[in-house]
Amino acid sequence: MEHTAGKIGVFDSGYGGLTILKEMRRALPDYDYLYVGDNARAPYGTRSFDVVFDFTRQAVEELFRRGCHLVILACNTASAKALRSIQQHVLPVGYPDRRVLGVIRPTVEAVGEITRTRHIGLLATPGTVRSHSYRMEIEKLYPEMKITETACPMWVPLIEEGEAYGDGADYFVKKYIDAIMTEDPEIDTLLLGCTHYPILLPKIEKYVPEGVRVIAQGGIVGDSLADYLRRHPEMDARCSKNGTVEFLTTENAAIFDRLASLFMETPVESTRITL
Ligand code: DGL
Repeated sequence: MEHTAGKIGVFDSGYGGLTILKEMRRALPDYDYLYVGDNARAPYGTRSFDVVFDFTRQAVEELFRRGCHLVILACNTASAKALRSIQQHVLPVGYPDRRVLGVIRPTVEAVGEITRTRHIGLLATPGTVRSHSYRMEIEKLYPEMKITETACPMWVPLIEEGEAYGDGADYFVKKYIDAIMTEDPEIDTLLLGCTHYPILLPKIEKYVPEGVRVIAQGGIVGDSLADYLRRHPEMDARCSKNGTVEFLTTENAAIFDRLASLFMETPVESTRITL
């Protein structure tokens, strides 16, 4: 069947997916991207499985309606709680030719190359931690590895409220890093398992003990998308390539633009949509 080429859809509950989008554009600058941030309903990290699945499905279907053939869930919470159901139940029934990919598997694959002590720490939302998706993937790929999972419920609200660079954020950044390093002092690699967290990176690095590496997912996901498109030329042919990016948000566009421009380090002009 002939397909009209479409943009690559990128979805997150809010601003976090921008850290992934930025790196995807670095790895694949020629492609077109359509970003949806569900800022009006963020954060997702404290919501139940059913709700995260419903919200994520709505966003994915909106991206499909707008012509995307490939959608990246640039959100760990959505990848943990909705990806499998979408792949197994939504795509085969309504969209057999479209694909939805998450961020957890490529991140876990990459982390095996990095840790020396084989003790890693995961900092993520309560939802991702409760799903144990990272633990399960680690057990499959590296059964010898020890993973400690710590939920950081205050980090996403700080970012969504524009407080990431304020002095108040320091208290909560230090609190969760101290907690995970106390639980397992042998950790040499801390994985930021929430796409919002790289926005806090300058503060996170301030409180991480020397010798411990902090891993953000953006670069890993960008490289893994490039690899996916190389291995799937039929999907690559369905991705349009004019080097553009368009932003959609469920919140007030002016509010989104202000913070998104700060996080993207380039002016952003979004359109408000309803899911
Ligand atoms: N950025 C998301 C993640 O990677 C979710 C944050 C949230 O909405 O709680 O988990």
